[in-house]
Amino acid sequence: MAAVRLEGLTKLFASTRAVDAIDLAVPDGEFVVLVGPSGCGKTTTLNMIAGLETPTAGDIWIGEARVTDWEPRDRNLGMVFQSLALFPHLSVFDNIAFPLRIKKVPEADVAARVQAVAETTRIAPLLRKRPATLSGGEAQRVALARTIVVKPAVFLMDEPLSSLDAKLRVEMRTELKRLHAQLSATFIYVTHDQAEAMTMADRIVVMHQGRIHQMGPPLQIYADPANRFVAGFFGVPAMNFLDGEVVAEGSDLRFSAAGLRPKLPAPRTATRGPTTLGVRPEHVRLGDGADASPATVSLIEPLGDETLVFLDYGAPVSLVAKVDAEDKVAVGDRRPFTLRPDRLIFFDSAGGRLR
Ligand SMILES: Nc1ncnc2c1ncn2[C@@H]1O[C@H](COP(=O)(O)OP(=O)(O)OP(=O)(O)O)[C@@H](O)[C@H]1O
Ligand SMILES: [Mg+2]
Repeated sequence: MAAVRLEGLTKLFASTRAVDAIDLAVPDGEFVVLVGPSGCGKTTTLNMIAGLETPTAGDIWIGEARVTDWEPRDRNLGMVFQSLALFPHLSVFDNIAFPLRIKKVPEADVAARVQAVAETTRIAPLLRKRPATLSGGEAQRVALARTIVVKPAVFLMDEPLSSLDAKLRVEMRTELKRLHAQLSATFIYVTHDQAEAMTMADRIVVMHQGRIHQMGPPLQIYADPANRFVAGFFGVPAMNFLDGEVVAEGSDLRFSAAGLRPKLPAPRTATRGPTTLGVRPEHVRLGDGADASPATVSLIEPLGDETLVFLDYGAPVSLVAKVDAEDKVAVGDRRPFTLRPDRLIFFDSAGGRLR
């Protein structure tokens, strides 16, 4: 088991700054998820840790060793990628045994280790089968087993669940989390899926355009995003962004935008003047509070347990509220709404957070 540390890690492809001076310390045993939109540099970062890509600048440490120019095979890493590359002509058993046999592990030990790891990954009944006869989730677990069996210090995973259907993906998230707890190894997991990051990570690292925008536990990232990019990336549906202005009204401060003027809690010296207000759909409340703004329901999307309600309140873009499914709402209803004052956040015109 080992910690991983990246210092000023940079990768240029011609003039593209794929990874731009990343600093990241992953403690031993942490499950860290690198998440961000397509092209933000996740795979390039992981490939540099693995030794499959040479950094343009910066350093990589695994445990006590500076491994920046080590060969991949010397780094004691286990890699699981989106494409599984199981050997089709070998049984599940032989696929898992393969890396051990390369290392000339005695055959008696091979059998015991394959059996143990097959139980951990819940594929013991499948050991005699060929890869072509496995379901997607089973094949994914075989690939995991083949990685686990060599007992790597650090697991690197690049979108390993993206080829699975939605239901299986959710099940495998739980499996991976359980596996992490059981192995107590360091996991560095890459995904562009914010829900995967939220559900699995001890700590999320949000990347955008080759840089780290925020690091922290999932709920902290969700509730206290560092900037507008992070705020908009997490949460389904996305946070509402309203352009307006913070104005003084007597001793109160209010946010003033087309059709609404909610009162703001606490003095906010930093947020006077033009600003963007961010509020999550679950913090928009339907009802006639003291500070309610009038609106008309323009669209409804039932999710089953909750309902998304699109509110037209006079701005070009509707406001999305997430309400309990029991709350009977119909298109065309006049439904005033309030914004939960303690959950409003503000951004400047460049997308930086105003506090
Ligand atoms: N071998 C390469 N040659 C040139 N440019 C590359 C190469 N590999 C990646 N890039 C560029 O570097 C940037 C980061 O790519 P990377 O594959 O790391 O993104 P990613 O975050 O993994 O995206 P995705 O979610 O789509 O997998 C992109 O702009 C990509 O086009
Ligand atoms: Mg990638």
